[in-house]
Amino acid sequence: MGIGGSDMYRQQILDHYKNPRNYGEIEDPTFTHTGENPMCGDTIEMDVVLDDDEETIEHVAFRGDGCAISQASASMLSQELAGMPVEDLQAMDRDDIIDMLGVDISVMRVKCAVLAEKVAQDGVDIYFGEKDLDETTTED
Ligand code: FES
Repeated sequence: MGIGGSDMYRQQILDHYKNPRNYGEIEDPTFTHTGENPMCGDTIEMDVVLDDDEETIEHVAFRGDGCAISQASASMLSQELAGMPVEDLQAMDRDDIIDMLGVDISVMRVKCAVLAEKVAQDGVDIYFGEKDLDETTTED
């Protein structure tokens, strides 16, 4: 798979890739946002439901296509985000995602790893009118 790290974490990534959690759609989500890694064409589309006061993420579902890292990362993130304050999501960075995955990731693959996180963060920013964007890319 081109990633280092302990077998346990590699197994966990493969498990999330093969059996993604929260895969699918949510009816009437608070918002939906999509993103792509233009280097390879991997995609993530995410539905997010916020609670009534729009401070906490209630749940997340995603669809996607791509490598084990991008898809497993979306699956793991969907679990982490359930119940998380929106401001905690906005404070996440690539190191949090690398910690979550638990493996060493090459510079190239970091963009795969953070695709789902960027989709979730941009989705929030767009929803709250802080960003104007059609689709997230991992370019910037
Ligand atoms: Fe492109 Fe993973 S190979 S996001």
